[in-house]
Amino acid sequence: MMKKIAVLTSGGDTPGMNAAVRSAVRTAISMGMTVKGVYRGYNGLIDNNFVDLDLRSVSEVINRAGTFLYTARSPRFREEEGVLEAVENCKKNDIEGVVVIGGDGSFRGARELSMKGIPCVGVPATIDNDITSTEYAIGFDTAMNTAVDMIDRLRDTIRSHDRCSAVEVMGRHAGHLALQVGIATGATAILIPEIELNIDDVISKIKQSQKIGKNHFIIVVAEGVACGVDEIAKIIEEKTGVESRATVLGHVQRGGNPTVRDRVIATRMANEAVYLLSKGIGNRVVAYKGDSIVNYDIFEALNMKKEIDVDVLRVAEEVSI
Ligand code: F6P
Repeated sequence: MMKKIAVLTSGGDTPGMNAAVRSAVRTAISMGMTVKGVYRGYNGLIDNNFVDLDLRSVSEVINRAGTFLYTARSPRFREEEGVLEAVENCKKNDIEGVVVIGGDGSFRGARELSMKGIPCVGVPATIDNDITSTEYAIGFDTAMNTAVDMIDRLRDTIRSHDRCSAVEVMGRHAGHLALQVGIATGATAILIPEIELNIDDVISKIKQSQKIGKNHFIIVVAEGVACGVDEIAKIIEEKTGVESRATVLGHVQRGGNPTVRDRVIATRMANEAVYLLSKGIGNRVVAYKGDSIVNYDIFEALNMKKEIDVDVLRVAEEVSI
């Protein structure tokens, strides 16, 4: 059994990261291990920036978004020198394993560290839900609900003005967030990077909807769509005569108290990560499959493919008018 592990959060923050840290700490302590928190992701490993975490230090964090360990994207850790310094610091602090909470980029780092003798287990967290090896990543549910809440508010105003709202949601290169949010907000069209943009389709949909008496329209656009919301709003206004506004929801989607789903899944995933480490098993990522927490070899996980759910797309298409 390992005696001491560390936990870090890396990449973009997500609601539920704190819940995952809390679970890792409490699970490890219940097994007789001690835990160090690493500040600011991999940068903290390189800079020897650790904090002792006990049962009380993770009190009252389960309900808070962000990460109390702070986070960073670490270019230094992509260099061999950075990884070696991190290994050195782990050894100096008697850290035998690390729980890495973050996205695909963070898992690449976890693999590097595992290969150099410090076993790591990745826990998937990103509001984009684009991690290939898992059906669900921590933060996605809260971000969806935040975006839906914001777009419901937009609907209040565009309805009053008979307007069209082209609204950009996050997702980096993926449309998972946009697709779910578009369905939940009753969008007339959902534009995602996985499907080639055909603005004429959007225009004819709006015109079709006008024929059945609809006067306001929501167009949900994933940030990965090359033609931005400003341009899309402009084209819609020109071609339909409907006054249009562009809104970028931006980083508000990363905040807000985590939902039940995010708190519970974060707790379950981090618990599993610590179980693996406690058995000396590293170079793994935990994942959500069905309603189970499973785990994969990191290399295998990074090479998996994740497609947009075409059946969900079909449903979205059929009910939007
Ligand atoms: O990966 C999460 C995410 O919020 C993406 O949706 C977005 O593209 C990116 O991070 C924004 O990054 P930053 O926080 O560096 O602006």
